[in-house]
Amino acid sequence: MNGGAPRLRRWVCHSGHMAKVAVVGAGAVGTAIAYAAQIRGVCRQLALFDLNADKVRAEVLDLNHGMQFTPMAQITGSDDLRVCADADVVVITAGAKQKPGQTRLDLAAANVAMCRDLVPALVGLAPDALLLVVTNPVDVVTYAAQQFSGLPPHRVFGSGTVLDSSRLRFLIAEHTKVAVQNVHAYIAGEHGDSEVPLWSTATIGGVPVQDWGSAGENPLDEAARARIHHHVVRSAYEIIAGKGATSLAVGLAVSRILEAVLNDEHRVLPVTSRLEDVHGLTDVCLSMPSVVGRTGVQRVLATPLSADELDQLVESAATVRATARNLGL
Ligand code: LAC
Repeated sequence: MNGGAPRLRRWVCHSGHMAKVAVVGAGAVGTAIAYAAQIRGVCRQLALFDLNADKVRAEVLDLNHGMQFTPMAQITGSDDLRVCADADVVVITAGAKQKPGQTRLDLAAANVAMCRDLVPALVGLAPDALLLVVTNPVDVVTYAAQQFSGLPPHRVFGSGTVLDSSRLRFLIAEHTKVAVQNVHAYIAGEHGDSEVPLWSTATIGGVPVQDWGSAGENPLDEAARARIHHHVVRSAYEIIAGKGATSLAVGLAVSRILEAVLNDEHRVLPVTSRLEDVHGLTDVCLSMPSVVGRTGVQRVLATPLSADELDQLVESAATVRATARNLGL
């Protein structure tokens, strides 16, 4: 049946291998990632790990009970890390999560410490895997994970500002009453309070943001852009205050990254990875628009920046680097 061929192609990597994604941590974020990946048919094998055996068993049951309504996948789970064996991509979501009012950087010491043993164990179980870090502060944890893994930087990267960029695009679309799919705008830098909106290269249907509007009226004037930036930075805090954790959008964002990897899409996504001389920034993990495919981060783009954006990015790098150095990384 023709309809089956494309879907089968989506499940199977080029080599005919049935792609396996392992998600470490079956909390709100980990299960949202698994759920989004199942619905979007991202992979043929999905494995969840959590220290809480009852929780991970319940989540796997709940996911499998919806299998009739989604593309087929073998979904398994365990409190034994070996469930991650031979994964193509290991998604790390485990660790302490932000409490109301807490910054992501406040979680650094605990979550880096967790990775010190976890990451080498994962590399041992899945030696060919890409490591996709979601655990916050994702830039610092990605930097630590890459060190602890001994893997090349392109194979250890994080969700970075993919979600923040989605929040930015949503707000721009809302402001301009244009479909969000026609908004191209990135947040770069730290996935956190020092993140940087790249207004100078943002476009709506190809029209630069600063030229949007008519008759001297621009719904995206400097004041509006500042408000949007503030809302993007405060989004997670607002959601955490209301429901305890963010989950649904980050689940979709990470599922999108997984598709780019497993389908070898060469998709430009602002993931965080260890930069090597990008706008003069080196040996720090930050998000920049990057080409993502089957081998991980294939190229970090030196997206043109205004002088102000570059200043902000340098500041963001200093914030992330200082946190990493304070932890001996
Ligand atoms: C957020 C989490 C994923 O921004 O840091 O929702």
